[in-house]
This record gives sequence, structure tokens and C-alpha cells, in this order.
Amino acid sequence: MKENVTVVILAAGLGTRMKSKKAKVLHEAGGDTLLNHIIRAALHVAAPEKIIAVIGYQAEQVRQTVRVPGIRFAEQSERKGTAHAVLCARQAVESDGGQLLVLNGDGPLLRPATLQAILDFRCGASAGGAIVTTELADPTGYGRVVRDRDGTVSAIVEQKAATPEQLKIREINTGLYRFDAGLFWQFIGEVKPNNPAGEYYLTDMVEILATNGHPVAALLIEDERELLGINTRIELALADKILRTRKAEELMLSGVTIENPETVTIDGGVEIGPDSLIEANVQLRGATRIGANCRIATGCVLRDCAIADGVTILPYVVAESSSVEKKASVGPFSRLRIGVEAGENSHIGNFVELKKTRLGSGSKASHLAYLGDSEIGTNVNIGAGTITCNYDGRRKHQTRIEDGVFVGSNSTLVAPVTLSEGAFIAAGSVITNDVERDALALGRAFQVNKQGWAKKRRETQREAEPVKS
Ligand code: UD1
Ligand code: CA
Repeated sequence: MKENVTVVILAAGLGTRMKSKKAKVLHEAGGDTLLNHIIRAALHVAAPEKIIAVIGYQAEQVRQTVRVPGIRFAEQSERKGTAHAVLCARQAVESDGGQLLVLNGDGPLLRPATLQAILDFRCGASAGGAIVTTELADPTGYGRVVRDRDGTVSAIVEQKAATPEQLKIREINTGLYRFDAGLFWQFIGEVKPNNPAGEYYLTDMVEILATNGHPVAALLIEDERELLGINTRIELALADKILRTRKAEELMLSGVTIENPETVTIDGGVEIGPDSLIEANVQLRGATRIGANCRIATGCVLRDCAIADGVTILPYVVAESSSVEKKASVGPFSRLRIGVEAGENSHIGNFVELKKTRLGSGSKASHLAYLGDSEIGTNVNIGAGTITCNYDGRRKHQTRIEDGVFVGSNSTLVAPVTLSEGAFIAAGSVITNDVERDALALGRAFQVNKQGWAKKRRETQREAEPVKS
């Protein structure tokens, strides 16, 4: 089982540099909020009830977007700095012993392995804990790690408080700390807001602990990309790119072919089975699940969809909260608006829109149709231009089309209406009444042909006024 680890995640700030009305940790990268990413990483080293997120700015929205059940929250009503934020979590911390991991809420790229590494990092019996550091070519904005002559970390100085000499230090604090919990709570009261920002800096704990004989060790990590803290939207875009690359690589290693992987947008929660092909410029969002041996062609945007094995989704299909069963094919240019179920071997073709509709197995709607609030049986043919009139301006009504029905092209089905099994609807019909089993329904004006009429018209017109060329 996990050792006695409590995790405090600092997520109360607004994030001024984002220039947003939305709290920084609510911004999304890789298909999820910054905070959800970090909570998920923390779950690898601590049980949910030992994870405390310190929230403040837009606390309610932040609480609601956290998708991990069981984690706890503490509120920091005034933003007085990172040390003050940890102090706000004091009440929620159950034990004063063990290890206290403190994580900045704006570091979504952190890998669980790095959290484990800092927990496992051994550093002398009297040590106050450990911090993760890295060396940056451009350390601007980060807290600099100050070391003694013997290499011991003596302090972290923030950008605003650093001397010109200290600003040249390239080793920075990444915002990932492990403290001996007992020592931490003993000394946290000594942090004072005596810096240009007037904040209680958590980073001051490093110097305080060192002065009291409990220096903090530094775990220097080479791959600094994982430790990127998001302060601006430029960094947000970079984090998004890194997370999506990671996801695409993970899928490719599990047997999915991705063409031009740098052009696809696949959210972290998406699953794809082996031997499926994802073409360029595809977006797979939310909780989309795709089976094995599928083809998702270029330009498709699927959100929260369930796609079974062997399905072909041709180019430029837009689908949301819908399911497509085995060996069905959809597209090109189809829209599954919401709540669509396409049965096994069914086919939905170009410029067909469906909403809250089940299309039974083997049924086809190949071209230009709108099918809304419909229950369509098996082996039904929906002709080009078929429209369900499901809305009377006030309410939505159901259309029921039973097995084996043939709906001729350009039919208008005025709901509520039922076309019983095996019925045949003549092309161009406006169907307002139910159709019985195996019946032909013809709902259009009969055609009248007048022999010689057109010729006669041409002749009379020619006599009246010669046509100018
Ligand atoms: C912080 C570190 C800095 C480090 C950098 C790494 C301090 C003082 N500095 O700087 O050494 O190099 O992270 O990315 O800690 N927060 C609160 N309450 C507050 C203030 C902040 O919850 O009162 C939260 C923020 O929401 C954020 C995190 O703490 O998630 C870090 O705050 P931020 O303002 O981004 O700190 P940095 O200036 O980046
Ligand atoms: Ca930051």
C-alpha cells in the first residue's frame, strides 16, 4: 500500500498572466483542466482522501470540474501566497506524520514516475525533505535554487526578490516539494511576507528548514518539459501540444496507426483499439471509444462517441454522444448531432443529419436526409431527401419506421407517424397518416401530361416576338 503521503495541490490563484476571467487551473490542455491532470498524477502516490486541493478563486467552478471522486478541498479566501495556501489545508490534513507532497496546480505535465521518484529520493535522516529542480536556458520568472559551497540547497529566491547575481542561476524550483510533515508544520509559522510582493512564499521554507538543521535536498530532473508551469497562454498551448503528442505516441505503441500525428487532436480519455487507422486532422474528444480495425478518415470530429469494431467513418463526419455499431459506415459529410445509434452494418451517407434516432442494422440513409426523434428498424431504405418533420413549432414528435420499410426519395414524414413493417412510401410523398403493414403510401399530386403543349407554346411565342440572340 501507499506510504503515509498527503498531497496538497495549490490551485487557489487567479493566474493574472493568463489574462482571463477564468481561474488558471480551469483552463484546459490535452482535453482536460490543468487541475484534473495534476490530481490524476497524484492518485498514483496517494489515496483520494489524502489529496487536498486548495481552491479560492472561482472555488465553486473548480470544485465542480474536478472529476476524481473522494478528493478533498480546502479554501484560501485571500491569496496571500503559496505558503499561506498550504496553511489553509492544515485542517484537512489528517496526520502530522509521514510525508507532505506539495504541488503547484499549474503543472499538468508532471508524470507519476517523477512523484514516485521524489518520494523515494533518500536524503539523510535530518533532511527536511526534497524539491525537484531543473536547469533552464531561460530561467526568467522561476524561483532560483541557491546552493552553498558544498552544494547544499540553502534557499530559493523568487525572481522579484533575487539579486542580479542570483538571477544568473539557471537551476530553478519546479514547484514540486516533499516535506517531512512533522517538520513542515513545526516551522511553517516562521514564513514572513517580507518580499516585494508581500506574500507568504512557500519557497522560504527551504531556507527556514536549512537554518534549523534540516536542509532540503534537490532532485535535479533532466527533462524540463515535464515540469513546465503554466503562467501564460503560450505555455498553455505548449502543454497542450506535449500532452497530445504523449497521447498519440501511447496509442501508436498500443497498435493504432496515426497518419501525420502532429495534426490530430486526441483527448487524454479517448480509447482506440488495435489496427485502427486515424487519418490526418482528426479530432477525437471527451470519452470517445473506438474499437479495433476502424478507419476514422480525415477531418472527422467525434466527441463522446462509441464506435464499435470494424467501423468506417469517412471524411468530415461530425458526431457527438452517439454510437456506431460493428461494421457500419458513416460519411463522408454526415452529422450525428446527439443520441444517435447506428446499428450493425448500417450506412449513413453524405449530407445526412440524425438526431436522437436509432437506425437499425442493415438500414441505409445514403444521401441528403434529416432524421430526428426516430426509431428506424432493420433493413430500411431511407431515400435521398427524406425529412422527418419532428417539430411543430412547440413540441418534438416521434417517427417510427419499422423493419424493411422503403421510403422513396424526397419524402416528408410529418410526425407523429408510424410506417409499419414492409410498407413502401412513394417518392415525393408527404406522409401525415400512419401507413399499414406492406401497404403503398402515395401522398402527392398526380401528374398530368398534356400532349403537344410545349411545342404549341414555342410556336405562339415565336409569332408574338422574335427571340433576340
Ligand atoms: C512558483 C514558485 C517558484 C517556482 C514556480 C514553478 C513560489 C513563491 N514560487 O512561482 O519558485 O519556480 O512556482 O512553476 O511558490 N497559489 C495559491 N494561493 C496563493 C498563490 C498561489 O493557491 O496565494 C497557487 C496558484 O494557483 C498556482 C500555484 O500556487 O497553482 C503557484 O503559484 P504561481 O503564482 O503560479 O507561482 P509562480 O510565480 O509561478
Ligand atoms: Ca506558476
